[in-house]
Amino acid sequence: MPTVVVTADLPGLVPPADWTVLGPADWRAALPDADALLCMLTDRIDASVLDAGPRLRALGTVSAGVDHIDLAACAARGVAVVNTPGVLTEPTADLAFGLLLAAARVFTEAGAALREGLWTGWSPDAFVGRDVHGATLGLVGYGRIGRAVAARATGFGMTVLHHTRHDTGAPGWTSALHDLLRASDFVSLHVPLTGETRRLVGARELALLGPDGVLVNTSRGPVVDEPALAAALHERTLFAAGLDVYEDEPAVHPGLLASPYAVLLPHVGSATRATRLAMTALAVSGVASVLAGAIPPNVVG
Ligand code: DGY
Repeated sequence: MPTVVVTADLPGLVPPADWTVLGPADWRAALPDADALLCMLTDRIDASVLDAGPRLRALGTVSAGVDHIDLAACAARGVAVVNTPGVLTEPTADLAFGLLLAAARVFTEAGAALREGLWTGWSPDAFVGRDVHGATLGLVGYGRIGRAVAARATGFGMTVLHHTRHDTGAPGWTSALHDLLRASDFVSLHVPLTGETRRLVGARELALLGPDGVLVNTSRGPVVDEPALAAALHERTLFAAGLDVYEDEPAVHPGLLASPYAVLLPHVGSATRATRLAMTALAVSGVASVLAGAIPPNVVG
């Protein structure tokens, strides 16, 4: 009978019949008895958490991202990590494309003016945005979600480029991030947060995207230098941004909150009912496989 500790009330959690489930209240106190831990991306799983659970064999995170987990510490302790890739690809791509459209067409500025009673009627020069159709989209990262965004962009008549470190062999690949930024009207970020991608997009990169450029980020906040982005929007050296993720969630840089050219969402890329159920089910099945001595397809690394 494995004991599995959960850090949150997970939507639709249907644990296998032989599990004893403890938590989420006082989940840390239950760790000494835990064979497995089911966590979320807001839980920082470091060596101290792992050391509190010396019996742990499996760690399941109800997220695709694993930047909140010390993977080396897990490996050193023989704890297998499973995540939820694939099931959130399409909703996250939908959201990224929604942010792209909303930022291009100044939804925040136009919507706020309407709600605040400042809209005085149709005007030839009010709330004028950028064309999406016919523009060039640069994707930074070309995994599942990047490719799903590319499919949407193609449907909108965009030219799609992508940057990854290794040649994907697909049309539109460039090895140089700066070349991609120079060539793109829109840039959407789809990389995991690692030491190499932290603040990958800073003042220099935003300057290359230019005053007509639009940045979309649905990956992880720290991939972007948030103060530099807020400054670029304020100084109008970047046209707009569409953001679902932030450097220090749930805090949001005041310069972004103040900008009419930032479309801001509270990390909801995977927030559809079906997707959240599928994420929980995938994390549970991965943990169950590890506990049964198997190596599931969603094991990390
Ligand atoms: C993930 O799964 O990593 C997403 O950021 C959460 O929706």
